[in-house]
Amino acid sequence: MNPERPAKPGPTTKPHRKNLFASRMAKTPKSFIREILKVTDDPRIISFAGGLPNPDLIDAAGIADAAGRVLAAEGRKALQYSTTEGYLPLRTWIAERYRKRLGMAVSPCEILITNGSQQCLDLIGKVFLNAGDPIAIERPGYLGAIQAFSLYEPVFCPITLQDDGPDPAMLAEVLERHNPKFFYGIPNSQNPTGITYTGERRKEIADVMQKTGTFFIEDDAYGELNFTGRSPQSFRQLLPATTLITGSFSKILAPGMRLGWVVAPVEVMEQLVIAKQASDLHSNFLSQRIAYEYLSHTDIDSHIHRIQQAYRHQCDLMQAEIKKTFPASVRYTRPEGGMFLWLTLPDGISANEVFDAAIKEEVAVLPGTPFYIDGGGNSTLRINFSNAPDTMICEGIARLVRVIRKLGK
Ligand SMILES: Cc1ncc(COP(=O)(O)O)c(C=O)c1O
Repeated sequence: MNPERPAKPGPTTKPHRKNLFASRMAKTPKSFIREILKVTDDPRIISFAGGLPNPDLIDAAGIADAAGRVLAAEGRKALQYSTTEGYLPLRTWIAERYRKRLGMAVSPCEILITNGSQQCLDLIGKVFLNAGDPIAIERPGYLGAIQAFSLYEPVFCPITLQDDGPDPAMLAEVLERHNPKFFYGIPNSQNPTGITYTGERRKEIADVMQKTGTFFIEDDAYGELNFTGRSPQSFRQLLPATTLITGSFSKILAPGMRLGWVVAPVEVMEQLVIAKQASDLHSNFLSQRIAYEYLSHTDIDSHIHRIQQAYRHQCDLMQAEIKKTFPASVRYTRPEGGMFLWLTLPDGISANEVFDAAIKEEVAVLPGTPFYIDGGGNSTLRINFSNAPDTMICEGIARLVRVIRKLGK
């Protein structure tokens, strides 16, 4: 038996009670990605559908050493309950990293350690949203955020993501008409498109938001993965009182450690801490201790540089193969970081058709439709480049081009 494969479901016991589940559950989209990943479980399929980091870049030996040291020196403490806010030395490390990377002052009191940055989205939904509250989100937007916020039944106001960042005129209109509680965006290497907002566009967005009470939720899961080594300005530097940042160790250490954080002004932090305490008391303390031990004994800049270089190579290779083989009518983004490319197919080719035909050719891609909160995106695809070796990238793109050419006829 493979312990990683889901067990077969037991017999269904139909609940006798009507309306057993809260109505919010019906309004929350299933994770389309998880559904798709079931299809791609077949080892013959080359999958560009998921979003996993490259496993060769997870320093398992280094993390094992750090774990050994923590357990040997302070095992009982590290296995105890701890504070909701998180391990202070780890929060101090994160604050220091902001100072070093961005020249941005953050106090450890403004940092809450979470169970991956995904939990930040749930906590933000919990503390900010009443049912029916308007919120703004990029179009296309991160599916995990759409799912997390949907549980709190907001009204989503989509803001078109252009090549330079969100459309400022559209945002201005939404702010004026709906006064959303927050605008959630991913300024660095956006998921799903790979787009990084330009400096100019960041200023325009900040200008538009400046006069409003709307918060900017800056999801910075990919901030450290800029291949050029650039660290663009955070919105916290532009809108200090009304920006929350969510950060993650998933892409630079290991996603299985489930460690992320949120940076928030103190009065928001108080609310987040209460919500977190009610959810899970605190994040995995052993994981926090191991992460801190690892970070304080590793040349983390070199480690991150290796990740950036590897992803740059994988991204360049995928783009080169696309350029060489795809019809010129297929458009694609040129990310400067992250893990994804975004393809727009010529009119008349549907991404869902591509998905079905591609599975038959044993390559998986992700149709863009679930990233559009209000429908649309029928001709778009998200392609992950971080989790396939070079030969698979070349072979997978060759299979995909066969599908696109066939459907384009
Ligand atoms: C934009 C974005 N935010 C948040 C997350 C959640 O990541 P984690 O919970 O592992 O930090 C992801 C995961 O890929 C993501 O792409």
